[in-house]
Amino acid sequence: MGPAYILPLLFGVTFAMDNLEVAYQWKQLDFAYPSEEARREAIKSGEFTPANNLPLGLEVHDDRLFITVPRWRKGVAASLGYIKLSDPMDSPKLHPYPNWQAHNLSGSPEIISPFRMRADKCGRLWVLDTGEEDILGEAKIHQPTTLLIYDLSTNTLMRKYQIPENQTSKDSFFANIAVEDHNCSNSFAYLGDLGDHPAIVVYSWKNNTSWKVKHHYFHIDPLMCDFSVTGIDFRWNDGIFGMALSKPDAEGYSTLYFHPMSSAHEFAVSTKYLREDVSDKNFHKFRNLGSRGPKSQSGTSFLDQNTGVLFYALLNLNAVACWRTTNAEYTMHSQGRVFMNNVTMVFPNDIKVDSNDVLWVLSDRLPTFMYKFLDENEVNFRIFKAKVADAIRRTACDSTFEVNSTTIKTITIEKRNVGFKVESVMSIVLVALVAIYSL
Ligand SMILES: *[C@@H]1O[C@H](CO)[C@@H](O)[C@H](O)[C@H]1NC(C)=O
Ligand SMILES: *[C@@H]1O[C@H](CO)[C@@H](O)[C@H](O)[C@H]1NC(C)=O
Ligand SMILES: *[C@@H]1O[C@H](CO)[C@@H](O)[C@H](O)[C@H]1NC(C)=O
Ligand SMILES: *[C@@H]1O[C@H](CO)[C@@H](O)[C@H](O)[C@H]1NC(C)=O
Ligand SMILES: *[C@@H]1O[C@H](CO)[C@@H](O)[C@H](O)[C@H]1NC(C)=O
Ligand SMILES: *[C@@H]1O[C@H](CO)[C@@H](O)[C@H](O)[C@H]1NC(C)=O
Ligand SMILES: *[C@@H]1O[C@H](CO)[C@@H](O)[C@H](O)[C@H]1NC(C)=O
Repeated sequence: MGPAYILPLLFGVTFAMDNLEVAYQWKQLDFAYPSEEARREAIKSGEFTPANNLPLGLEVHDDRLFITVPRWRKGVAASLGYIKLSDPMDSPKLHPYPNWQAHNLSGSPEIISPFRMRADKCGRLWVLDTGEEDILGEAKIHQPTTLLIYDLSTNTLMRKYQIPENQTSKDSFFANIAVEDHNCSNSFAYLGDLGDHPAIVVYSWKNNTSWKVKHHYFHIDPLMCDFSVTGIDFRWNDGIFGMALSKPDAEGYSTLYFHPMSSAHEFAVSTKYLREDVSDKNFHKFRNLGSRGPKSQSGTSFLDQNTGVLFYALLNLNAVACWRTTNAEYTMHSQGRVFMNNVTMVFPNDIKVDSNDVLWVLSDRLPTFMYKFLDENEVNFRIFKAKVADAIRRTACDSTFEVNSTTIKTITIEKRNVGFKVESVMSIVLVALVAIYSL
């Protein structure tokens, strides 16, 4: 397929997509201190260094939108906070969760540095805390990786579970969590260890115990460790990363869709083989679904259980894409492009769908924060939202929209009639990107 053919495809599809809108955006994060004086004091003492606060994980429950602010560097005011959805502001200040005291590093902090969290349908907030402060600096470990579970109705800690040492390894790092919550008294959390010995640690709520599952599919692909985001080149070797759970089957087991970050492949396994019998004889129960193609390394993912659509971040492409799990094939062409933008969608770092069928995406320019510096005069952090139905409309994930040559031609002609400039798009047509453009 040559570029001449790609262009019409590109046209056809961009016409109807990118249906997300910015709900919140920040140049820098700020926190709701009890008083302006307390805020000034915190800045003076170095407890709060605004430039070092980067939002990363996101979750929505009722009227609250939770955001994690990992302690990459010193001066993170609180590593977990929330804003109110009813807050009319464009750039609201974060309230610490559950309170300021829980984040006080000179006291006895409850939360150190979580990356991602999950609010389940039972009113619990599962926070996966790495326990590590100043990650890019002195890397001080306060405590082993800990699962903190809060009651969202009282905002109190229900459980605190440290991952046993013999379920981790020297370079373990737990950045992602999926929670299987169809039975509130028998729920399971899947904690992804992306380190050199990647694994999933499964936590049972009922028994308050955990165990470790290993598989070759959790490992990196050595050919997929090269990343390039807005001109910053870096090499990451992150194993299992995206984890998303389907609706339960008749027996009560979900399918876990997962991928390592340094990989182009998507995999799947029934939670039966993570929850119960994790012996080696189930090795072949793990399935390789297929490849997204070149430059398609993916970070976080989330499955909307109502539509069965899997959403995921494409880090090198500044894009969020989707795939309908009822699709027989997982290929470059069976993916849908949800949103792509090289300014506003630089490093989509978390994705969720809330109980009102709203898709949420947080982008935060993480590579710029890590390897250069963020310009405080620019908008650096954005939270996007859209109804799932709008987000997938006219993509390969929309069950009512079948992409075929007739529809593509029709849309292309419509597009030409409104005088869209060919030149502006020409420059971004790379064969390697066919996948995401031609969906
Ligand atoms: C943090 O804890 C220390 C020691 O308990 C205390 O002196 C300080 O006032 C606390 N800071 C905040 C902001 O609560
Ligand atoms: C792992 O450590 C726990 C204590 O934290 C112990 O009860 C358990 O037997 C150990 N398991 C193995 C396989 O060594
Ligand atoms: C939920 O799990 C509990 C504990 O295992 C069990 O007793 C109960 O029957 C389960 N409920 C359903 C609806 O399956
Ligand atoms: C919980 O513990 C009971 C008793 O040891 C065991 O039979 C059951 O399989 C365990 N359940 C899970 C989910 O680990
Ligand atoms: C769960 O287990 C952890 C560690 O084994 C322990 O510290 C905690 O108290 C237990 N929680 C409950 C509710 O049993
Ligand atoms: C292609 O899609 C259009 C619009 O969705 C539909 O009307 C047409 O029948 C489809 N053609 C084929 C060959 O499937
Ligand atoms: C974004 O893409 C446009 C269109 O291809 C290009 O002109 C622009 O330079 C790009 N901006 C960045 C920051 O990469």
